[in-house]
Amino acid sequence: MGKKKTVRTFRKMKRDGEKIVMLTAYDAITAAMAQAAEIDLLLIGDSVGTTMMGYADTVPVTVEDMIHHGKMVRRGAPDMFLVCDMPFLSYHCGDDDAIRNAGRCLRETGSDCVKLESSESTVPLIRRMVDAGIPVMAHIGLLPQHVKTSGGYRIAGREEEEAAALKKLALDLQDAGAFSMVLECVPAALSKEISEMLEIPTIGIGAGIGCDGQVQVMTDLLGMGTFVPKHAKQYAQLGKIITEAFASYRAEVKDGSFPTAEQSF
Ligand code: KIV
Repeated sequence: MGKKKTVRTFRKMKRDGEKIVMLTAYDAITAAMAQAAEIDLLLIGDSVGTTMMGYADTVPVTVEDMIHHGKMVRRGAPDMFLVCDMPFLSYHCGDDDAIRNAGRCLRETGSDCVKLESSESTVPLIRRMVDAGIPVMAHIGLLPQHVKTSGGYRIAGREEEEAAALKKLALDLQDAGAFSMVLECVPAALSKEISEMLEIPTIGIGAGIGCDGQVQVMTDLLGMGTFVPKHAKQYAQLGKIITEAFASYRAEVKDGSFPTAEQSF
């Protein structure tokens, strides 16, 4: 592994036209594998709520949950640039509270930046965070923490007015000091336009090829989820492999063929 990446690395990658590869991570074992695979950066996503914790959405995830999983990821990937998601309501109850929570996410997990699901109302907060020395990755488009107000998960920016608002928001967030931006479930043409308009790199999920990088949820990519979102590609079928391994173990214990002399002392 080369020199540890910083916020400057990702700007340079954009300038050089080198695609950025981000992956979610929630534990030490898979984080170590991602580091070995030379993934550029890991996101300790609040998707931990749905992928690992059995929740229906990300709303129940707390700062404590993020810190718990973030620490594991840092132990598994000591050399990687880590992004820690700020969970639901951890940055909506006043700027001081938000900055304290962001500080905890950085200090206690060893992450390199925080990520905030962003709207126009979070722009001044992001400016304050950056001013305080907290690197921020913004996140626009589909905002999973708003699932209860939006009434479900939908593509963002299909209508002309919404597309114009997203472009303005992207510029405002860049101006506030965000060093990069996730675009989630945004039409490919609009993502390309936003990516070309910004100096900071965009990282897409369900946002087409025109982004400066891509992020995928680890369990989607590994075939471990209960359903496959349209924007995901399964590079392995681990869910099936693990279930078959568990079933083989069960069968061998039941029929007395495990353990054998080889596994005995
Ligand atoms: O929590 C997460 O996994 C995310 C990605 C979908 C970008 O925010």
